[in-house]
Amino acid sequence: MDEKTKNLVSLLKRGRIVAFCGAGISAESGIPTFRGEDGLWKKYDPTVYATVEGIVYLLIKSPLSLRDFIVESYQIFLNAQPNFAHYALKKLEDKNLLIGIITQNIDDLHFRCGSKNVAEIHGNAFEFLCRRCNWRIKRTPKELESFIYQLKKEKSKWRIVKGILKFLGRCPQCNRRLESGIVFFGQQLPQKELERSYQYLNQAKTLLCIGTSGVVYPAASLPYYAKERGVKIVVINPEASELDEIADYLVREEASQFFRRIIPFLG
Ligand code: OAD
Repeated sequence: MDEKTKNLVSLLKRGRIVAFCGAGISAESGIPTFRGEDGLWKKYDPTVYATVEGIVYLLIKSPLSLRDFIVESYQIFLNAQPNFAHYALKKLEDKNLLIGIITQNIDDLHFRCGSKNVAEIHGNAFEFLCRRCNWRIKRTPKELESFIYQLKKEKSKWRIVKGILKFLGRCPQCNRRLESGIVFFGQQLPQKELERSYQYLNQAKTLLCIGTSGVVYPAASLPYYAKERGVKIVVINPEASELDEIADYLVREEASQFFRRIIPFLG
């Protein structure tokens, strides 16, 4: 074991680890990153497809493009399974070394592999909620699969819109139309998830920043908050990122490669 790995292992053995994750941790599950070569935002303009105004515009003016976007992105989520890195974080939680995970990802993969303490600061693509009374429901992969199957076949603009609104449904408490649980650009981050993130960071000794470019705010401010509190920052990313400047340990590896190397030393 080289000196850097030795130091990293002893740091992790001290526990009180928090993970701050981005799209890179799910890349090996088959979900393209946002800004990578095959990223979603290369094909779909985020100022349209990742904003509420844009989605409403598409619903009215271009339901076929909205259908293609929904079908393509949900097929990717539905086909993805947690990978070694997701399971490694679950293992660290089971060993009481990890306090919690703060994720920018909406793919549900941390919950799908059994992690318990997860703050989803950009929401969850499987969740639908009422923005008036906060009632929420998590749809099963099966429900989403059958929705996508129907939507994919639909050619009529009117029936596409009707199908989407029917699937969203209404709040059983206040009858308002339910909305996607994804946090779109320009929307506030969910208060509870943010509070949970700060709770994790306030107890942390080490922050593992895994697979994020660190360019999207306010999410990217969390590692800086941790750094100011004296938390050791470990950046795990095969490429350069904005967070490199605050890294105490810079690990130029893919997430699963890093964990395959490190986990055996953690007992
Ligand atoms: P990005 O696509 O911006 O960055 C992904 C990062 O993962 C890059 O720095 C890659 O180098 C790195 N990466 C790729 N493969 C990896 C691997 N196998 N292991 C480790 N790292 C790897 O994605 P995010 O930083 O997550 O926001 O983007 C942040 C936010 O921007 C997203 O949550 C989303 C997006 O627009 C919203 O939807 C609100």
